[in-house]
Amino acid sequence: MTPAQFMRRHWQKEPLLARDALAGYADAVGRDDLFELAGRDDVESRIVMKRRGRWNVQHGPFDRRALARLPRREWTLLVQGVDLKVRQAARLLDEFSFIPYARLDDVMVSYAAPGGGVGPHFDSYDVFLLQGRGERRWQVSRQRDLALVPDIPVKILQRFEPQHEWRVQPGDLLYLPPQFAHDGVAIDECITYSVGFRAPTAQALAHHFLEFLQDDLDLDGRYVDPDLQPTRAPGRLPPQMIDHAVAVLERVRWSREDVARFVGAHLTEPKDNVVFDAPANPLSPKAFARAARKAGVRLAPATRMLISGIDVYINGERHRVPRSDAAVYARLADTRALKPPVAPGVSDALLLYEWYLAGYIEIRSRADA
Ligand code: SIN
Ligand code: CO
Repeated sequence: MTPAQFMRRHWQKEPLLARDALAGYADAVGRDDLFELAGRDDVESRIVMKRRGRWNVQHGPFDRRALARLPRREWTLLVQGVDLKVRQAARLLDEFSFIPYARLDDVMVSYAAPGGGVGPHFDSYDVFLLQGRGERRWQVSRQRDLALVPDIPVKILQRFEPQHEWRVQPGDLLYLPPQFAHDGVAIDECITYSVGFRAPTAQALAHHFLEFLQDDLDLDGRYVDPDLQPTRAPGRLPPQMIDHAVAVLERVRWSREDVARFVGAHLTEPKDNVVFDAPANPLSPKAFARAARKAGVRLAPATRMLISGIDVYINGERHRVPRSDAAVYARLADTRALKPPVAPGVSDALLLYEWYLAGYIEIRSRADA
């Protein structure tokens, strides 16, 4: 199936099970890799299990001993943002580059003991579920009833009525549109990769936009009342004060350009737990330009970059680039790398050097070739 066919028939519409679609990634992350990531405090992880009929969730980091004490069956460990830590998981994302990066969330990887799973639920995002090691049984349902069990720490559907069932093996890929009910249960020990695509809610978009707007706000003036009369009812709110507030707030204006700036910055904002590693012994600007020209550069795994015309957004910042260089920055945003020869205008640009010092980009290594 071509990306165009997939988008037309399935994206945001219908589930799709593609057998043996991405077998090359089945072993990208093993159980030990995942256990190690779950021990780190810069990685978000959780364990979900059902014990004596009750769902329970614990948040990481988890040390080895805690993981070794878990029962033999019916629990699952979920690790978020694995693409930032494991190169092969980041490569997996390249398989989905027919979808704008602005929609991309991250790669979550789960390890489940036999019988483990997170229970019947739905996600608000589009998700591709790639089966790694082991087998899993997926049940899905187009049901409209999305009522959740109240007052428990996990999202579990009150009523789940499966309509389809598949048994998946390493390399099989299941796509689910948002709000599609599903339940995956590990048949034996298994690993599953979830490539998630986010979409902002109207509420979150407006909330963050208002925050953004407030940083640029610059209104002058203050309420004045030289004609104020003595009152016998000091507890009443003077209507003039409301009129004044209305007039002031009508002066808060924004343009499409402001909104575009907000969207670019917002969608490239790194997640809270992301830290960029600045180079330990940074090259001088000259040496950097030389190395960049010769070997090329690549985005650091955690860097989010989007481009819109001559506006380049990187990790929540906006930069305007010369029109003559925009195509090169666009290539960097699209392919997450610039292979040599890198145009001198760009390799010598202070911008690239600034990003290098911030740990947003790196000189390409031989392994990237
Ligand atoms: C899992 O990997 O167990 C959970 C994936 C999902 O159902 O969203
Ligand atoms: Co899910």
